[in-house]
Amino acid sequence: MGKLNRDTLVESRCGNNYESSDFYGGNKLKFKDVVFYYFSGTGNTQLIVKKMCDTFHELGVDVSAFKINETDPEKVDVSKIIGLAFPIAAQASYKFILEFIEKLPESNGTKVFMVDTLAGFSGAIIGPLRKILNNKGYETIGAHEIIMPNNFCLKKINENADRIKIERGLSSARKYAIDLVEGRTSWGRIPFFPDLMYRITASKYPWEFLRKMIPIELEKEKCTSCGLCVKLCPVGNITLEDGIVFSDKCQLCMRCFSYCPTEAIGFKNKQYLRYKAVKKLQLN
Ligand SMILES: Cc1cc2nc3c(=O)[nH]c(=O)nc-3n(C[C@H](O)[C@H](O)[C@H](O)COP(=O)(O)O)c2cc1C
Ligand code: SF4
Ligand code: SF4
Repeated sequence: MGKLNRDTLVESRCGNNYESSDFYGGNKLKFKDVVFYYFSGTGNTQLIVKKMCDTFHELGVDVSAFKINETDPEKVDVSKIIGLAFPIAAQASYKFILEFIEKLPESNGTKVFMVDTLAGFSGAIIGPLRKILNNKGYETIGAHEIIMPNNFCLKKINENADRIKIERGLSSARKYAIDLVEGRTSWGRIPFFPDLMYRITASKYPWEFLRKMIPIELEKEKCTSCGLCVKLCPVGNITLEDGIVFSDKCQLCMRCFSYCPTEAIGFKNKQYLRYKAVKKLQLN
């Protein structure tokens, strides 16, 4: 992943084309170079990041985007404004996302903002992350949560309702990007309970529990050994040997389940539906 290609972004631009001078005034110099680090299991967060990137481009802000699971956190460039984008899972996010953020380098006032996507509620992310980042020396300038369609344990999918949620989510992403550039955002913090919840999600226990409750499994006769799931898994939980083999690191991001072209991956004794917000998990 790297620099976004402006041409591929043009088609999804929406709304007015703002002249940067109308918009930023004195903030232009303060908000000019953004690097997103993002992860998306089934495409919701990817759509939001793309919309924010489009909006930043419109406003004359340079932006690039890198996948969290392909980035060494210790090598993150702290001379630029950092954007963090990820889905909510178990009230916070996947363990590998939290580890990435916890391993970011110390900084001397680098501006950082976050955006997450979720089905309804997150009680353990915004405040705890602000504390972690402030302790490392970052300036936490904005946190925003965007409701998108649920992708977990789905028994039915309402495409109309999902489409409306996505449209609203994209408007919210655009507004958030504009607010960031104009300096109108904030990153709140409620102490104690969210911190306690964060510690639980960041530990191995909820993930061990979830893996036990809904173990991932392969329908061997459907698998064509194409290797896509191996490539997509953000934590290296899948290997292709004689056939597909799962290790014990699954964080239930839903990628392999949703994107396997033959629907060979499922959950034991469960008939969940596969949600996909985008056809391909690529930002450009
Ligand atoms: C394992 C798992 C746990 C989840 N936990 C929550 C949660 O605690 N709260 C919530 O509102 N949504 C939760 N969700 C829903 C996702 O956060 C939501 O659908 C998100 O937009 C998915 O983003 P993505 O398509 O970028 O992966 C969970 C999804 C998964 C797969
Ligand atoms: S993506 Fe599906 S078909 Fe391809 S190797 Fe994985 S399980 Fe098999
Ligand atoms: S095994 Fe599948 S669901 Fe589990 S972390 Fe890897 S891609 Fe995600």
